[in-house]
Amino acid sequence: ELPCTVRSFCEAAGVAVPDLMKTLMGMGMMLNINADIDLETAELVATELGVDIELKASETLEDELITQIEEHEDEAESLVARAPIVTFLGHVDHGKTSLLDNLIGINVVKGEAGGITQHIRAYKVPKGDRAVTFVDTPGHEAFTEMRARGANVTDIAVLVVAADDGIMPQTEEAISHAKAANVPIVVALNKIDLEGVDANRVMTQLTEHQLTPSEWGGDVEVVRTSATTGEGMDELLETLLTIAELNEYSANPKRSALGVCLESEQHGDRGVVAKVVVQNGTLRVGDILVCGPAHGRVRAMKDTLTGKAIKEAGPSTPVSLFGLDKPPGAGDRFHVLSDITQAREIAGSRDDESSRQSLSGITTKVSFDNFQEM
Ligand code: GTP
Ligand code: MG
Repeated sequence: ELPCTVRSFCEAAGVAVPDLMKTLMGMGMMLNINADIDLETAELVATELGVDIELKASETLEDELITQIEEHEDEAESLVARAPIVTFLGHVDHGKTSLLDNLIGINVVKGEAGGITQHIRAYKVPKGDRAVTFVDTPGHEAFTEMRARGANVTDIAVLVVAADDGIMPQTEEAISHAKAANVPIVVALNKIDLEGVDANRVMTQLTEHQLTPSEWGGDVEVVRTSATTGEGMDELLETLLTIAELNEYSANPKRSALGVCLESEQHGDRGVVAKVVVQNGTLRVGDILVCGPAHGRVRAMKDTLTGKAIKEAGPSTPVSLFGLDKPPGAGDRFHVLSDITQAREIAGSRDDESSRQSLSGITTKVSFDNFQEM
């Protein structure tokens, strides 16, 4: 496997990033700019885009270690149930944060600047004897990348559509993210409390987008909700738990952790804070981490909902993490290593890569055809 990313591929092949993303999406892959593409995919997209590339393998320390971790298969006996990761997607102001607030019993919306979500939020919430991890994404068009990231880590997508507005541009974008991620979609037909809303109009729009409601003979659950009155909230949660039960999401809490960074910040006095989601394994204070160009030892972790310090985080747990040397990129995967020197080396090689703006493992010849297109 080659350490070739969407970005490095584009730089080398002289392809615009959105063009490559579109091509990848056409192949059912929703990748962000820092995501790795493997050799096979690189060859396929090169053909698709009509560019000529020369690929050469480079077996680095990184390839070996990280590939080993990623490809390690958990034995069936080691798997236990994990919380489903549920992401709220949809157009700006359609009520994603309000629905999540209602489900959790907090009020985040009120504290938001201009009522617009600008961060990607993730909370693990106990629900009876189970737990659900919720991810909230911003609907504003400026945050395409965050919605993509949300869709990337999710097991179930809740498509929030305000009954008065119906399907809007970011709703459509969210639909394509969810479809590319190949996850079940539940529609929250929100703001159903508003006077004169026409649910049938939105159901027709959904059908036109190949999301036929189950009550119309399709396979998409449409739940009428109001974050304001609380109508439909229990049903929404029930629907999510039923889907989770059917899919038996599982992970191995005994292996070392891996997952993805949702966002990160450099705080003056506290250093780097990275919001990450553990996808498999258990992350512990003291673990040695490499995440994109960053590395370090986990100094402390906080529960994203309560803000309480925690010592370990199992599968499907979002945490705020302290101890990395620099802010990793959003969407960067993290891995736990046993040796801090190795972690530094791997992080360093990635950092060189990005600062040289070059790429390892892939070189390009721009063919004449391609040249004309540019
Ligand atoms: P972004 O994060 O900016 O994309 O918006 P959002 O989808 O998170 O919407 P948010 O929850 O911030 O709600 C937007 C506005 O709609 C707020 O003023 C909410 O109070 C209102 N709202 C949300 N849900 C409902 C609902 O079910 N009924 C009514 N009447 N208003 C709602
Ligand atoms: Mg919001």
